[in-house]
Amino acid sequence: MKHILTILSALLIASCSSSPSGNESAAPPGKVETPATLEEIEKSFEKYKGVGPVSEVEVGDEIDQTLADEGKVIFEAKCTACHKTDKRFIGPGLKGITERRTPEWTMNMILNPEKMTQEDPIGKLLLIEYNGSPMANQNLTEEEARKVFEYFRTL
Ligand code: HEC
Repeated sequence: MKHILTILSALLIASCSSSPSGNESAAPPGKVETPATLEEIEKSFEKYKGVGPVSEVEVGDEIDQTLADEGKVIFEAKCTACHKTDKRFIGPGLKGITERRTPEWTMNMILNPEKMTQEDPIGKLLLIEYNGSPMANQNLTEEEARKVFEYFRTL
C-alpha cells in the first residue's frame, strides 16, 4: 500500500510539472505606448513640420520688418482673443515659439488647427495641455500666416 501511494504521488508531481507552458503569449491586449511629453518632443522639434498645406518655408537671415509689421496687425485683430505674447492665456504665450517649433509647423497650426490637434504629435499634446479647448481656425491665407510667423520672430 505504501508503495502504491509513493508511486501515485510521484506520478502526480510529474504530471504537475509537465503542465502546459507557453503562458507568455497571454500578454495584455493592446499595445501600450509611453506617451512622450511636450518637453521631450521639444528637444527634437526640428523634425516636426506639422500636418497641413505648408511643407517648406523660406526664412531669411534678417527679419523682414515690413512683413512682421503686417503680421502684427493680423495677430492683434485675429489672435489676441486667445493669445498673449508673453504668457499663457486661453492658448499658449507665443513669445519664443520660433525656438520651439519649425516655421512649417507654426504655419500649419495657424492654417489647419483642427487636423493639427487630431493628428500631429505636438498638436495632440497641446490640446490635452489646454484642456481640450481647441484653437479656432481664423481662416488666414497662407500669405497672412507667413506674415504672422515673421512677426513671431520679433517677439
Ligand atoms: C479661440 C481661441 C484661439 C484663437 C482665436 C487663436 N488660437 Fe492659437 N491656440 C489656441 C489654443 C487653445 C491653442 C493650444 C492648442 C489647442 O488646444 O488647440 C493654440 C495654439 C496655437 C499655436 C501653437 C502654440 C505652441 O506653443 O505650440 C500657435 C502658433 C497659435 N495658436 C497661433 C495662433 C494665431 C496666429 C492665431 C490668430 C490667427 C490664433 N492662434 C488664434 C487658441 C486660439
